[in-house]
Amino acid sequence: VLGVHEAYVRSLVRRAPDWPKKGTAFLDMNPLLADARALKQCIDSLAERYGGGFITHVAGIDARGFTVGCALAYALNCGFIMVRKKGKIPPGPEGSSSILSEDYELEYGKDTLEVASDSFDTARVTSPRVVLVDDLLATGGTATAACNLLRLAGATIVEVAVVMEIMSESLQGRRRLKEEAYIDAHALL
Ligand code: PRP
Ligand code: MG
Repeated sequence: VLGVHEAYVRSLVRRAPDWPKKGTAFLDMNPLLADARALKQCIDSLAERYGGGFITHVAGIDARGFTVGCALAYALNCGFIMVRKKGKIPPGPEGSSSILSEDYELEYGKDTLEVASDSFDTARVTSPRVVLVDDLLATGGTATAACNLLRLAGATIVEVAVVMEIMSESLQGRRRLKEEAYIDAHALL
Protein backbone atom coordinates (compact mmCIF):
# COMPACT_ATOMS: atom_id res chain seq x y z
CA VAL A 1 0.00 0.00 0.00
CA LEU A 2 2.85 2.38 0.85
CA GLY A 3 4.88 1.27 -2.17
CA VAL A 4 8.53 2.26 -2.03
CA HIS A 5 8.02 3.80 1.41
CA GLU A 6 6.76 0.63 3.04
CA ALA A 7 10.09 -0.76 4.28
CA TYR A 8 11.03 2.59 5.76
CA VAL A 9 7.72 3.05 7.57
CA ARG A 10 7.77 -0.56 8.76
CA SER A 11 11.25 -0.09 10.20
CA LEU A 12 9.79 2.55 12.53
CA VAL A 13 7.34 0.19 14.24
CA ARG A 14 8.91 -1.17 17.40
CA ARG A 15 7.98 -4.57 18.72
CA ALA A 16 7.82 -5.03 22.48
CA PRO A 17 7.56 -8.76 23.17
CA ASP A 18 5.66 -10.00 26.24
CA TRP A 19 4.14 -6.60 26.95
CA PRO A 20 1.72 -5.68 28.47
CA LYS A 21 1.28 -9.39 29.14
CA LYS A 22 3.41 -12.48 28.58
CA GLY A 23 2.59 -14.00 25.23
CA THR A 24 1.36 -10.81 23.57
CA ALA A 25 3.59 -8.52 21.54
CA PHE A 26 2.96 -4.80 21.65
CA LEU A 27 3.45 -2.94 18.38
CA ASP A 28 4.61 0.54 19.20
CA MET A 29 4.21 3.14 16.46
CA ASN A 30 5.67 6.00 18.49
CA PRO A 31 8.90 6.01 16.42
CA LEU A 32 6.76 6.19 13.27
CA LEU A 33 4.75 9.12 14.63
CA ALA A 34 7.95 10.84 15.68
CA ASP A 35 9.36 10.65 12.17
CA ALA A 36 8.07 13.43 9.91
CA ARG A 37 8.64 11.53 6.68
CA ALA A 38 6.98 8.31 7.83
CA LEU A 39 4.02 10.13 9.34
CA LYS A 40 3.52 12.08 6.15
CA GLN A 41 3.69 8.92 4.01
CA CYS A 42 0.98 7.30 6.12
CA ILE A 43 -1.35 10.29 6.10
CA ASP A 44 -0.80 11.00 2.40
CA SER A 45 -1.55 7.39 1.51
CA LEU A 46 -4.81 7.43 3.47
CA ALA A 47 -5.76 10.86 2.15
CA GLU A 48 -5.32 9.61 -1.38
CA ARG A 49 -7.59 6.65 -0.70
CA TYR A 50 -10.35 8.62 0.98
CA GLY A 51 -10.06 11.94 -0.83
CA GLY A 52 -12.57 13.21 -3.35
CA GLY A 53 -15.20 14.62 -1.05
CA PHE A 54 -17.28 11.53 -0.25
CA ILE A 55 -16.14 11.27 3.36
CA THR A 56 -17.72 13.78 5.74
CA HIS A 57 -15.92 12.78 8.97
CA VAL A 58 -13.00 10.78 10.22
CA ALA A 59 -13.51 9.03 13.55
CA GLY A 60 -10.57 7.94 15.71
CA ILE A 61 -10.48 5.46 18.57
CA ASP A 62 -9.11 6.52 21.97
CA ALA A 63 -6.16 6.81 22.28
CA ARG A 64 -3.81 5.80 19.54
CA GLY A 65 -6.43 6.20 16.83
CA PHE A 66 -6.57 9.92 17.59
CA THR A 67 -3.07 10.50 16.27
CA VAL A 68 -3.41 9.36 12.68
CA GLY A 69 -7.17 9.92 12.62
CA CYS A 70 -7.10 13.62 13.35
CA ALA A 71 -4.23 14.22 10.93
CA LEU A 72 -6.24 12.44 8.23
CA ALA A 73 -9.33 14.51 9.00
CA TYR A 74 -7.26 17.66 8.51
CA ALA A 75 -5.82 16.35 5.24
CA LEU A 76 -9.31 15.49 3.95
CA ASN A 77 -10.78 18.77 5.17
CA CYS A 78 -13.25 16.74 7.25
CA GLY A 79 -14.46 16.93 10.82
CA PHE A 80 -13.03 14.59 13.43
CA ILE A 81 -14.98 12.48 15.92
CA MET A 82 -13.46 11.00 19.06
CA VAL A 83 -14.63 7.53 20.03
CA ARG A 84 -13.68 7.57 23.68
CA LYS A 85 -12.86 5.16 26.45
CA LYS A 86 -15.44 5.06 29.22
CA GLY A 87 -16.13 8.08 31.41
CA LYS A 88 -14.57 10.86 29.32
CA ILE A 89 -17.58 12.40 27.61
CA PRO A 90 -19.38 15.23 29.42
CA PRO A 91 -23.19 15.24 29.48
CA GLY A 92 -24.94 17.41 26.89
CA PRO A 93 -26.79 20.56 27.98
CA GLU A 94 -29.97 19.65 29.87
CA GLY A 95 -30.08 16.07 28.72
CA SER A 96 -29.97 17.09 25.05
CA SER A 97 -27.71 14.17 24.22
CA SER A 98 -27.07 10.77 25.69
CA ILE A 99 -23.90 8.74 25.83
CA LEU A 100 -23.86 5.60 23.73
CA SER A 101 -21.72 2.91 25.22
CA GLU A 102 -20.45 -0.54 24.24
CA ASP A 103 -18.33 -3.09 26.11
CA TYR A 104 -15.80 -5.13 24.18
CA GLU A 105 -13.02 -7.62 24.81
CA LEU A 106 -9.37 -7.05 24.06
CA GLU A 107 -6.50 -9.49 23.73
CA TYR A 108 -5.52 -8.52 27.26
CA GLY A 109 -8.68 -7.43 29.06
CA LYS A 110 -12.00 -5.66 28.70
CA ASP A 111 -12.92 -2.08 28.03
CA THR A 112 -15.82 0.19 27.12
CA LEU A 113 -16.04 2.70 24.29
CA GLU A 114 -18.40 5.66 24.21
CA VAL A 115 -19.71 8.19 21.74
CA ALA A 116 -22.11 11.07 22.33
CA SER A 117 -25.43 10.51 20.56
CA ASP A 118 -25.17 14.00 19.04
CA SER A 119 -21.60 13.61 17.75
CA PHE A 120 -22.71 14.36 14.21
CA ASP A 121 -24.46 17.60 13.52
CA THR A 122 -27.15 15.86 11.52
CA ALA A 123 -28.95 19.13 10.91
CA ARG A 124 -25.99 20.24 8.80
CA VAL A 125 -24.68 16.91 7.53
CA THR A 126 -27.75 14.80 6.95
CA SER A 127 -25.91 11.57 6.13
CA PRO A 128 -22.48 11.42 7.75
CA ARG A 129 -20.09 9.11 5.89
CA VAL A 130 -17.22 8.10 8.10
CA VAL A 131 -13.82 6.48 7.89
CA LEU A 132 -12.93 4.94 11.24
CA VAL A 133 -9.21 5.09 12.03
CA ASP A 134 -7.10 3.24 14.56
CA ASP A 135 -3.45 2.34 14.87
CA LEU A 136 -3.94 -1.39 15.00
CA LEU A 137 -6.32 -4.17 14.10
CA ALA A 138 -5.76 -7.26 16.24
CA THR A 139 -8.90 -9.17 17.33
CA GLY A 140 -11.09 -6.52 15.72
CA GLY A 141 -13.11 -6.15 18.93
CA THR A 142 -12.32 -2.48 19.37
CA ALA A 143 -13.10 -1.50 15.79
CA THR A 144 -16.31 -3.54 15.76
CA ALA A 145 -17.54 -1.84 18.93
CA ALA A 146 -16.66 1.58 17.51
CA CYS A 147 -18.55 0.85 14.28
CA ASN A 148 -21.62 -0.13 16.28
CA LEU A 149 -21.50 3.09 18.29
CA LEU A 150 -20.96 5.37 15.30
CA ARG A 151 -23.90 3.76 13.55
CA LEU A 152 -26.10 4.30 16.58
CA ALA A 153 -25.06 7.96 16.38
CA GLY A 154 -26.28 8.07 12.79
CA ALA A 155 -23.17 7.47 10.70
CA THR A 156 -22.54 5.27 7.71
CA ILE A 157 -19.13 3.64 8.06
CA VAL A 158 -17.29 3.56 4.76
CA GLU A 159 -14.23 1.60 5.89
CA VAL A 160 -11.96 0.98 8.84
CA ALA A 161 -8.41 2.18 8.20
CA VAL A 162 -5.50 1.11 10.38
CA VAL A 163 -1.77 1.66 10.26
CA MET A 164 -1.03 -1.95 11.19
CA GLU A 165 -2.95 -5.19 10.91
CA ILE A 166 -1.80 -8.28 12.78
CA MET A 167 -2.48 -11.37 10.74
CA SER A 168 -2.35 -14.65 12.61
CA GLU A 169 -4.37 -17.77 13.24
CA SER A 170 -5.63 -16.49 16.57
CA LEU A 171 -6.22 -12.87 15.57
CA GLN A 172 -8.78 -12.60 12.82
CA GLY A 173 -9.69 -8.96 13.13
CA ARG A 174 -10.44 -8.39 9.50
CA ARG A 175 -12.79 -11.34 9.40
CA ARG A 176 -14.50 -10.38 12.64
CA LEU A 177 -15.06 -6.84 11.44
CA LYS A 178 -16.58 -8.16 8.23
CA GLU A 179 -18.78 -10.75 9.94
CA GLU A 180 -19.97 -8.65 12.86
CA ALA A 181 -19.99 -5.14 11.45
CA TYR A 182 -20.08 -5.82 7.66
CA ILE A 183 -17.14 -3.50 7.20
CA ASP A 184 -13.91 -3.91 5.26
CA ALA A 185 -10.54 -3.02 6.70
CA HIS A 186 -7.75 -1.19 4.96
CA ALA A 187 -4.26 -1.57 6.48
CA LEU A 188 -1.10 0.32 5.59
CA LEU A 189 1.17 -2.35 7.08
C1 PRP B 1 -5.13 -1.15 21.20
C2 PRP B 1 -4.94 -0.58 19.82
C3 PRP B 1 -6.30 -0.76 19.18
C4 PRP B 1 -6.80 -2.04 19.80
C5 PRP B 1 -6.68 -3.19 18.85
O1 PRP B 1 -5.75 -0.17 22.00
O2 PRP B 1 -4.60 0.81 19.91
O3 PRP B 1 -7.16 0.29 19.49
O4 PRP B 1 -6.00 -2.25 20.98
O5 PRP B 1 -7.09 -4.38 19.44
P1 PRP B 1 -8.29 -5.27 18.96
O6 PRP B 1 -8.32 -5.28 17.46
O7 PRP B 1 -7.96 -6.63 19.52
O8 PRP B 1 -9.54 -4.74 19.56
P2 PRP B 1 -5.69 -0.13 23.59
O9 PRP B 1 -7.10 -0.24 24.07
O10 PRP B 1 -4.73 -1.13 24.08
O11 PRP B 1 -5.15 1.26 24.06
P3 PRP B 1 -4.78 2.70 23.52
O12 PRP B 1 -5.15 2.89 22.10
O13 PRP B 1 -5.55 3.60 24.43
O14 PRP B 1 -3.30 2.79 23.73
MG1 MG C 1 -6.29 1.68 20.88
